[in-house]
Amino acid sequence: MSPPSFRRRPGLSASGPGGAGGLTLLLRLLALPLAAGTDCPCSEPALCRPIRHRPDFEVFVFDVGKKTWKFYDWSQITTVAVFGKYDSDLMCYAHSKGARVVLKGDVSLKDITDPTFRTSWIAQKVDLAKAQYMDGINIDIEQEVNCSSPEYDALTALVKETTDSFHHEIEGSQVTFDVAWSPKCIDGRCYNYTGIADACDFLFVMSYDEQSQIWSECIAAANAPYNQTLTGYNDYIKMGINSKKLVMGVPWYGYDYTCLNLSEDHVCTIAKVPFRGAPCSDAAGRQVPYKMIMKQINSSISGSQWDKYQQAPYYNYKDPDGHFHQVWYDNPRSISLKAAYMQNYGLRGIGMWNANCLDYSGDAAARQQTEEMWAALKPKL
Ligand SMILES: *[C@@H]1O[C@H](CO)[C@@H](O)[C@H](O)[C@H]1NC(C)=O
Ligand SMILES: *[C@@H]1O[C@H](CO)[C@@H](O)[C@H](O)[C@H]1NC(C)=O
Ligand SMILES: *[C@@H]1O[C@H](CO)[C@@H](O)[C@H](O)[C@H]1NC(C)=O
Ligand SMILES: *[C@@H]1O[C@H](CO)[C@@H](O)[C@H](O)[C@H]1NC(C)=O
Ligand SMILES: *[C@@H]1O[C@H](CO)[C@@H](O)[C@H](O)[C@H]1NC(C)=O
Repeated sequence: MSPPSFRRRPGLSASGPGGAGGLTLLLRLLALPLAAGTDCPCSEPALCRPIRHRPDFEVFVFDVGKKTWKFYDWSQITTVAVFGKYDSDLMCYAHSKGARVVLKGDVSLKDITDPTFRTSWIAQKVDLAKAQYMDGINIDIEQEVNCSSPEYDALTALVKETTDSFHHEIEGSQVTFDVAWSPKCIDGRCYNYTGIADACDFLFVMSYDEQSQIWSECIAAANAPYNQTLTGYNDYIKMGINSKKLVMGVPWYGYDYTCLNLSEDHVCTIAKVPFRGAPCSDAAGRQVPYKMIMKQINSSISGSQWDKYQQAPYYNYKDPDGHFHQVWYDNPRSISLKAAYMQNYGLRGIGMWNANCLDYSGDAAARQQTEEMWAALKPKL
């Protein structure tokens, strides 16, 4: 497990856009002479039209593939960012529910300082979105950028040019950009946050992986602690970013840490795995989806515990080799607390990495668990 690819997120196990390569080429060859609608894969040609409705409240969902999207709570979803393989059934279905479907945008930062490269990258993405009847793009860079580097301004320019181009070419389209939980150069990502926020429709704030750089004691801690999460939003707002430009991202996964030592008061010491200058990081742990966590919790040695400082649940278990583990995660209780803040501060909406993490098998316990997670996103009236 190498930290850089490990941290390609919003992405735990993101398969990336590469999976659609062959299809992409085919569609590009086919796309040129096609007027929208002539090869529409949906039952109704109207379902291939871009979504134009602008919701007051966003529920922004990342999908990494598989067919679980059929079981999502479509009464809430406004946008699906497709990080798995393109699936025309998903596009048709989302459009039938009035939800946008957007591409993943990822690019190597050393290339984008060349304006010609940017232009051709953007043209390629616009063509792909048109060929697949999609409604925009979610730009997910997550790479290190230094303040006075050429990439710093080039990144802002890329976002601006992408937005202009999409808005011009695809009516009603949406361009968004993924940022870390705080604007304070997390993981070396020193971007022009205000410039980028102005240049796109909104930022998706990845309020998770908040232990990616642990500067204090190397101990297991929450993926998205309440106070730390809120501090991030306060910092974005303080720098002048309108709260309506921010969508709160919550994790539907947790971290499983192997403890070097687990004390009686549940302090789990972890191995030192450095990340971008910090002595230890969550790369010492392993990401686990909520459905796995819920399957394991009853066989844990502690049962679910609540940390009142971080306002997050965790549990301890012993593996077959006798090693102790501590698992930190988010559940409806911890997510509701953050969602309440999202509502009070008038943020644009909420979303998660990623929607596939729940148990959609449909048995009674799984159904209840899954409904509760979706319900936790809803603003309370
Ligand atoms: C940013 O600056 C640091 C320290 O000067 C350097 O080590 C790093 O390679 C730079 N990163 C990039 C992406 O230029
Ligand atoms: C950020 O980008 C905006 C728009 O391009 C620009 O006006 C501003 O000066 C930039 N800020 C910094 C600190 O570079
Ligand atoms: C390790 O855990 C044991 C058992 O809880 C505890 O007594 C001990 O103080 C811990 N050691 C360290 C170095 O934290
Ligand atoms: C775990 O225990 C709870 C409460 O006893 C129960 O409701 C739930 O179904 C159990 N989950 C599993 C996966 O066995
Ligand atoms: C969270 O931060 C606030 C101040 O911003 C502080 O008053 C409060 O005690 C903190 N809560 C916890 C649980 O640490």
